[in-house]
Amino acid sequence: MEGPTLEELTRLCISRGFVFPSGRIYGGIAGFFDYGPLGAEMRLEVLSDWWYYFVRRRDDIVGIHGSIITHPRTWEASGHVESFIDYLVTCTKCGAEYRADHLLEDYGVEVKELTAEYLSRMLKEHNVKCPKCGGELSDPVPFNLMFTTYVGPKQTKANLAYLRPETAQLIFTNFKDIHITARLKLPFGVAQVGKAFRNEISPRNFTFRAREFEQMEIEYFVNPKKMNDCPFWDEVRGLEINILSAEMQERGEKEAKTMTLEEAFDSGLITTKWHAYWIGESLKWLWRIGLRKERLRVREHVKTELAHYAIQTFDVEYFFPFMGWKEIEGISNRTDYDLKRHQEFSGKDLSIYDGDEKVIPYVIEPSFGLDRVILALLTDAYRIIEGRRVLSLHARVAPIKVGVYPLVTKEPFVKKAREIYLMLKDKFTVLYDEKGSIGRRYARADEAGVPLGVTIDGQTLEDGTVTIRFRDTREQIRVKIEDLPKKVSEILENWDSYSQRVNA
Ligand code: GAP
Repeated sequence: MEGPTLEELTRLCISRGFVFPSGRIYGGIAGFFDYGPLGAEMRLEVLSDWWYYFVRRRDDIVGIHGSIITHPRTWEASGHVESFIDYLVTCTKCGAEYRADHLLEDYGVEVKELTAEYLSRMLKEHNVKCPKCGGELSDPVPFNLMFTTYVGPKQTKANLAYLRPETAQLIFTNFKDIHITARLKLPFGVAQVGKAFRNEISPRNFTFRAREFEQMEIEYFVNPKKMNDCPFWDEVRGLEINILSAEMQERGEKEAKTMTLEEAFDSGLITTKWHAYWIGESLKWLWRIGLRKERLRVREHVKTELAHYAIQTFDVEYFFPFMGWKEIEGISNRTDYDLKRHQEFSGKDLSIYDGDEKVIPYVIEPSFGLDRVILALLTDAYRIIEGRRVLSLHARVAPIKVGVYPLVTKEPFVKKAREIYLMLKDKFTVLYDEKGSIGRRYARADEAGVPLGVTIDGQTLEDGTVTIRFRDTREQIRVKIEDLPKKVSEILENWDSYSQRVNA
């Protein structure tokens, strides 16, 4: 599939101000990134659409905002202290460090198990050496991914704390308080957006594998006996999805099959209706923000991949031309694992009533990575149209919605253009550009993903009209200045039909 190389994408991100490696003036720090002016706007657009779609629009989901550092017992109860590990190998000659499974993958080995014994055997069988100096590698050793810190002035064991490796646990530890204060009845969900931190051994592929990143997570709580009673089933049952099950992978199949969610559930491939529903809702949102359907698939985790808390997990994967199919969201059935563990470790009763029945609910968890969604959006939008480089972002997530340009940088064009800029700026994110030829200004805006351009020309001064230019087709329409805010709103709100019409 066509698309940018990682170098092209990275260059665009840096040169247009989407993303910068953090601490670039000091040579950067691996796994940390800063979002520039366009990136900061785009994050807000993606995040607020996610919050609208999954929280505000619904009456069964509420949001919280938990702290990054919480009681350290949380991470003992959740299993992260014991089980949140990757395997590290070190070069005995130059000291370079690698994640064992990634190194094997780089050697073209399919990694089927994540245990020290298996990885050690595979490294030996395939005679894997240090890619930097050809030196011998150590045996794989477990490495916990959590960042640690100390709370208070003394760096003692008693003061040890962790930066959260997932936002989810704050939902579980606050579960009872949320349930009571928001007066929720099962089934219901709790959403959260925020930073997570993982001391990844080998951060790579730009923002894809970072050490500090943002998650957008929902824990959706259901009575364990009602995992197939989904009142919203009709909204998703007919959706066609591309799916690669664990069984297909175990048979050596690599291509996903297209089927409806109903077929996937009826054939037992997705074991509960609520899980299938959340796969459907997740895809609907990813389509809504503009990702191409054929570049998304749902892949089930094989047994050896499953996290310690999950009985079934599906990753939503996006096809990145420079690294293949990669996870942008995980959707797990975490059962009652977390609530039961917190109940056990805290000694507090975390069960709630469902009618007359007291239950510890099961949970389905759609967990998106904001940075990965943005990387997928930028990759997906990067197009060469008739020799022009265009960032064809959906209007919903484009960081700047409208560019305003005087055709020539002279009075009275500039004055009129500034007036229009200020009028639109009140409602939309707008860019004003008067530097260089109009062609260069359009090209700059096209690369920044600005969907619409408003140009003030000679006719504007005569009859009070301006042109609206569409980024992808360069088609132009003329509208009266007084109708401009309404027209721009209408186009942006109906982008799917407008872009189709304009693309046709
Ligand atoms: N609460 C479940 C959980 O954290 P996960 O699959 O480990 O599950 C969920 O993470 C999402 O977080 C992933 O699908 C991905 O989008 C994002 N994510 C995880 N690790 C990441 C990393 N190192 N850099 C960027 N995003 C990451």
